[in-house]
Amino acid sequence: MNDHPLEIPGHLTLTAGEGGLPKILVESAFSRAEIYLHGAHVTQFQKHGEPPLLFMSAASEFAAGKPIRGGVPVIFPWFGGRDGHPAHGFARTTEWELVSTAILPSQAVQLILRLPDPDGYEVDFVVTVGDQLSMELRVTNTSEQPFTFENCLHTYFHISSISDISITGLSNTQYHDKVADLVATEGHEPIRFQGEMDRVYFNTTATTEIADPGFGRKICIAKSGSQSTVVWNPWIAKSIRMPDFGDEEFVGMVCVESGNVADDQITLPPGDRAVLAVNLSSESLFI
Ligand code: BG6
Repeated sequence: MNDHPLEIPGHLTLTAGEGGLPKILVESAFSRAEIYLHGAHVTQFQKHGEPPLLFMSAASEFAAGKPIRGGVPVIFPWFGGRDGHPAHGFARTTEWELVSTAILPSQAVQLILRLPDPDGYEVDFVVTVGDQLSMELRVTNTSEQPFTFENCLHTYFHISSISDISITGLSNTQYHDKVADLVATEGHEPIRFQGEMDRVYFNTTATTEIADPGFGRKICIAKSGSQSTVVWNPWIAKSIRMPDFGDEEFVGMVCVESGNVADDQITLPPGDRAVLAVNLSSESLFI
């Protein structure tokens, strides 16, 4: 691959990734990351001295028209299925353009990817790789009409074991349980996993935390511009049904997703911009 004019020697390089798809390698003073142009997909973020923050399936496809399984799929402009169209929208299977790169005063490395040829709106995805991983999905309505959409940063976290982790931050929040197909309200105990979980929590801007005693790590998911949080683990039967996911891989992952889905979808007036921002940080569980 020829040198790209936006490369930053020693910090940001464009290379051929899995399946020959273009991949951006980022090295910051604190961490390293990988981002595919395919889907504007962050597939890796790892702080120096820590296990990877993001889970990637060993069975993932890396091919035109197919979503990548793991990392941070960018879900836009719809979440879930939609009348014969691909699940979770087309953004995750589109080749995005790299439009800007920079080293910030904090020594974090920042890049901006743009969704090509949108009709009536512009979409930028800003990824900042430093001591934390920060992501912003910026949608601007450039049309004369209101624009209604869903969005989600469908983040897969790398964990030691699904049976040992717990999630806090969603107490007293109403959710749609997609497995049992019922609406319920979360209690005050941390969320733990004993089977398939697929829940959309509504009307919540709360920061959530994953406590992972096996890795001795606490992951903090802070967000803005997001009213929905989705918690997902496919467990045994669904893992077996997914062709691009290993039968046992559910043990080492959990999705905690930040976005605006279903009743929390966004209607953007002409000329307005919506910014979905997610900041992922981690620290020792034992301090
Ligand atoms: C989650 C949904 O966000 O994504 C689940 O709540 C879905 O219902 C999961 O199974 C994975 O979706 P996909 O399209 O990537 O297999």
